[in-house]
Amino acid sequence: MPSPHRFGGWKLFLVLAALLMGAAGAAYLIGPDAVEGSRRAIRVTARTSFVLFLAAFTASSFASLLPGPFTQALLRERRIVGLSFAFSHLLHAIAIHAFGQLNPEFWPGRSTLTNLPGTLGYVFILLLAVTSHRGLARRMGPTAWRRLHVTGMWVIAAVFTSSYFKRVPMNYWYAVPSALLFTAVVVRLIAGRAQALRRGTRSLLAPNAA
Ligand code: HEM
Repeated sequence: MPSPHRFGGWKLFLVLAALLMGAAGAAYLIGPDAVEGSRRAIRVTARTSFVLFLAAFTASSFASLLPGPFTQALLRERRIVGLSFAFSHLLHAIAIHAFGQLNPEFWPGRSTLTNLPGTLGYVFILLLAVTSHRGLARRMGPTAWRRLHVTGMWVIAAVFTSSYFKRVPMNYWYAVPSALLFTAVVVRLIAGRAQALRRGTRSLLAPNAA
């Protein structure tokens, strides 16, 4: 039974949402130029989204590979972390909209093809956020829900990979998030393999136990 004093759930969401709005607002207001401010807000919200995404993407892998209070708490709050990621991306969309308004050359300078990965990313973010509602998840059933969420997480990981990797030639620091993403993928693959091995061992031992 969870303690009534435990910090988490919607309280955690509200704190994270306030921090995310504070970071985006500060990025926008820190300099005198509104156009540059909106670009800074785009970058900051992409980065806050990235941190939250990595936490949600690796939560169950870390909880199974390194069980402990922190990894268990992260797993327990994964839904809230995921919703905070979606909120951070809502702020990314607002900053993009503001940049498009302040810089009329922005949207005409982009093609359907350049918008495709980001649009696909947003479609999945919306689908994952909506289906994180427990009633909807129950109506979908565990198999369809899992399929959608696993596919969505990999699509979003691919959008982050392309967004960061294409910026490496402009600034080598972009190799850091690319390397973090690669590490997260490896952690997930190792955890998946470890779980499959554990299941295999259990089914081998089961006939002896009977
Ligand atoms: C159609 C939808 C989207 C548009 C139009 C868009 C637009 C932009 C723009 C203009 C920037 C560059 C800001 C600058 O440096 O001046 C940016 C950065 C970025 N976006 Fe988006 N974005 C979209 C969706 C997404 C999605 C869905 C993701 C991730 C799942 C994402 C992740 C990123 C990342 C990682 C950066 C780099 C931030 C940095 O420089 O650290 N974007 N986006």
